[in-house]
Amino acid sequence: MNKRAHWTSNIGFLLAAVGSAVGLGNIWRFSYMVYKNGGSAFLIPYFIALLTIGIPILVLEYGIGYWRKGSAPKALRDIDERWEWLGWWIVSFVMFGIVIYYCVVIAWCLNYFLLSFKLFWNSGWGNNTNEYFFKNFLNLSSSITNIGSINFKIALANLFIWLICWFICYKGIAKGIEKANKIFMPLLFFLTLALVIWSFFLKGSKIGYDYYFLKPDFSKLRDIKVWIDAYTQNFFTLSVGFGIMIAYASYLPPKTSIVKNAFLTGLLNHGYSFMTGFAVFGVLGYMSQSQGVPISKIVKEGVGLAFVAFPQAINTLPFGRLNAIVGIIFFFCLVIAGISSAISIIEAFSSAILDKFHFHRRHVVTILFIIGFLGGLIFTTSAGLYFLDIIDHFLTNYALVITGILECVIVGWFLSTKLLISYLIKESPATGIKKKILSFFLFGFWSYCIRFLSPAILITIFVLSIKSDVSKPYGGYDPVYLLVIGVGSLVVTHIIGYTISCFRWKDEPEENYWDEELS
Ligand code: PHE
Repeated sequence: MNKRAHWTSNIGFLLAAVGSAVGLGNIWRFSYMVYKNGGSAFLIPYFIALLTIGIPILVLEYGIGYWRKGSAPKALRDIDERWEWLGWWIVSFVMFGIVIYYCVVIAWCLNYFLLSFKLFWNSGWGNNTNEYFFKNFLNLSSSITNIGSINFKIALANLFIWLICWFICYKGIAKGIEKANKIFMPLLFFLTLALVIWSFFLKGSKIGYDYYFLKPDFSKLRDIKVWIDAYTQNFFTLSVGFGIMIAYASYLPPKTSIVKNAFLTGLLNHGYSFMTGFAVFGVLGYMSQSQGVPISKIVKEGVGLAFVAFPQAINTLPFGRLNAIVGIIFFFCLVIAGISSAISIIEAFSSAILDKFHFHRRHVVTILFIIGFLGGLIFTTSAGLYFLDIIDHFLTNYALVITGILECVIVGWFLSTKLLISYLIKESPATGIKKKILSFFLFGFWSYCIRFLSPAILITIFVLSIKSDVSKPYGGYDPVYLLVIGVGSLVVTHIIGYTISCFRWKDEPEENYWDEELS
């Protein structure tokens, strides 16, 4: 009997995959990228990147997970034993790096969500939102060496977020992750839609829309940095290179159309980002008009958009105490978008452990919950933001790009892509002309991207990132800390991954370690 858990339907899978893709990054990172990179002109490289990297690598990850019915280490090991370590490195750097700080950022959002209720009583984050965020809330220290103490409010919220993630993952695939996303995703969509419609009626919103949509600054497209941003944003936002999509696709039932699912995931994710852009830029336009400041001068840095500019905008809205509702909805959206992404990372790691060691899901998830929460404490200290910033920079700019390159090279050159493609075509429910188009797409465009175009682009980005980091230390930090913390996080997660890969694979036991009721 095949003990592997599975989704109850394709929609369930799709919602979970979109839940992973749609996260904090869609709401503030996307809008910030558009803001910084010339408004709508940025959308051009952004969608080109979707076609040349996003969708091809999504098809690749879905494809190998679905084909080999396993998480990243199992799928890669099936291709060639020598690649198992890569699978473990991927799931280790996301589990012991990314998700740990990602949950702390969700914890900030949860705090701001609760704080929004105080606006009903005219208190909250006060008038100087910049000072509130960095000084009162984060209690940010003057330098990375000055760690200070743990911020109790953030640590508590972090514990709460981990408890929710633990509960959802503990319940398993169909009853936990699928069910949660079936609630979260429609809810997120309608709440965001409410924000978009509301922002439409704000005075000055048109100034924001002009910037976002109508008056592109095409000269920016000549700047290579804009293209790098578009490509890295695609990687991050689609959750590819994280091993997540491999694990999620391994729970698919037979006769599933992988390519269709990849296109749907990409379009839904990008569509959602595009939609939130209207809410964010509507509000920025309002601020620009009410303060008489040009829109390009409103936001200073990335985190500032969600935690400084938005609260500031909420303060100045004309609805008095009811301004609170906008804050509540906005930060609630961030919390649910974040949780649905965090659980996907935990699942990528736990499914890998279940595949190899067949421990019980509930034990694995509980241990990860403890490690995740305790590990997150460092990011709740007064120097937490510095650690977060450096680790995020190194893991997303290097680890993700390296795994992307290796995945393309392994599948494109070491595995006969023909084998994978024939499997996908055989399993696809498409018939007649649709099947022909599918085969044309996979043998033509997709193979070309995976073998040549996508790795070439990724290698270019990798080289340029190294060049820029070497010529100027990232974020103005002391290079010693960049090496110890940034490069250190790459090395440590690699060692963890490599060590796990050295253990022996256990034989499949009789009992049901997936802890799910199987039908
Ligand atoms: N795709 C998520 C986002 O845009 C990011 C993410 C997902 C990061 C899963 C890590 C893991 O926010």
